[in-house]
Amino acid sequence: MKKIIVATTNQGKVKEIREILKDIDMEVLSMKDVLKEDIDIIEDGDTFEANAKIKAEAIRDIVHLPVLADDSGIEIDAFDKAPGVQSARFLGKDTSYDIKNQYILDHIQKDMPRSARYVCSIALALPNQPTVVFTETMEGEIADQAQGEYGFGYDPIFYFPPLKKTTAQMTPEQKNLYSHRGKALRKMEAYLKELD
Ligand code: IMP
Repeated sequence: MKKIIVATTNQGKVKEIREILKDIDMEVLSMKDVLKEDIDIIEDGDTFEANAKIKAEAIRDIVHLPVLADDSGIEIDAFDKAPGVQSARFLGKDTSYDIKNQYILDHIQKDMPRSARYVCSIALALPNQPTVVFTETMEGEIADQAQGEYGFGYDPIFYFPPLKKTTAQMTPEQKNLYSHRGKALRKMEAYLKELD
């Protein structure tokens, strides 16, 4: 069976990707499965696309196998699309999301737009072929207050108007259906099926 490596140390992401790609005849492996040591990749791109590509190609050049990498984050229009590619590092990478989310709620003024979006880019780097990148978004708003227990990161303050819920109030299945990551992965799945 053909192998594909997911360039992340986050086992949750590997599981999610395995689930979405389960209909494809490919063995989905994590970096832990193929590399002895953790490698530090400097994600210094200005865009989600650039960072996903940097990660996928860096690992591909080590393992010489097809590699999938994602980069994602939240763009808040009232903050000129910040934190964007800095989403994980916003206010410091070890700062809790309770603090980050409260900061956002406190700094978005009444007269500012509340629109925001999650963005996810997924890059597929194949040996000896140009890398392909798929980008998808999930449009929403910054909620008035944090709500919900599901999900992670900015989910308690990301309100999704079609379901009248924050993404932290959506079940994982619901979120997968509408999310930036779910949509980008399904595009990637369709592409991989074509390649087969
Ligand atoms: P990455 O793992 O480097 O792509 O970092 C993505 C960061 O963006 C996460 O650490 C979160 O802060 C944020 N983020 C991306 N997707 C989501 C989501 O679905 N829910 C909540 N936060 C997200």
